Amino acid sequence: MAPLNGRDFLSLAELSPTEVQELLQLAIQLKSQQVKLRCNKILGLLFSKASTRTRVSFTVAMYQLGGQVIDLNPNLTQVSRGEPVQDTARVLDRYLDVLAIRTFAQAELKTFAKYAKIPVINALTDLEHPCQILADLMTIQERFGQLSDLTLTYLGDGNNVANSLMLGCALVGMNVRIATSHGYEPNAMVVEQARAIAKNKTQVSIIQDAQAATEGANIIYTDVWASMGQESQASNRNPIFQPYQINTQLLNIADKDAIVLHCLPAHRGEEITDEVIEGSQSLVWEQAENRMHAQKALLVSILGAEEP
Ligand code: CP
Ligand code: NVA
Repeated sequence: MAPLNGRDFLSLAELSPTEVQELLQLAIQLKSQQVKLRCNKILGLLFSKASTRTRVSFTVAMYQLGGQVIDLNPNLTQVSRGEPVQDTARVLDRYLDVLAIRTFAQAELKTFAKYAKIPVINALTDLEHPCQILADLMTIQERFGQLSDLTLTYLGDGNNVANSLMLGCALVGMNVRIATSHGYEPNAMVVEQARAIAKNKTQVSIIQDAQAATEGANIIYTDVWASMGQESQASNRNPIFQPYQINTQLLNIADKDAIVLHCLPAHRGEEITDEVIEGSQSLVWEQAENRMHAQKALLVSILGAEEP
């Protein structure tokens, strides 16, 4: 069992390369049911943004481990009435064993983690989406049987998913190219973190030319052009990101065995065409399924578990 043992999981940068490999190995074992584990704990979900995959995959993962989940809808708690984060954190701490938070500011997540003694998991912020990237790496490992020496190209907005992908790829020895328009690059501090992890052994590149970035890549990845909270900017953003759309023409520039990933939800006809997402190179449904297995491994690693 990978020993994250009571730790928070706020950023992928908090994991060592070995810890990532151990988590992925455990996730694959749990998926194949080679390993069966019980974890009779209580997970709280405090989500201030919409979620289908993260909410349901965390819930099912915890139920399958024999634990329980409380959905702390902010509108039904005092959170929406402005109870300070420090206070909410210190109260939830006394009821729950672990808390997964989806919110806007990474700083708010850090405040929760500071005041709650229980482990806090980042279920998406504006800065990072680390749980997503664990499932993505698992999907790539399953398909290619390896992670190192591959090249992943992410096309589109330099958002939370792009930030976490850079860290995840650097941690597993994969080259990562972020193809985006000037002004929409990923977070500069995270680029530095990823490059420090990669130590010049693999590349973390930021490129404007979508074709050049896609050439020969093994994994082609995209996400929405306007993330949650940016919906009002969508009409301005769409023409800017049009050259980064994953369509058949672009996909043909990638390696012939390349796979296509998307964290979902997708806007077909915008960042990805219907033909590509439904095409034979798309692994998006396996990727979505793997959210559950990867998060089960994460929960077990943080909370501990027993053989049934
Ligand atoms: N990919 C992802 O996090 O999906 P949800 O927003 O549906 O949780
Ligand atoms: N970048 C997207 C990811 C959704 C899973 C968002 O933050 O809305």
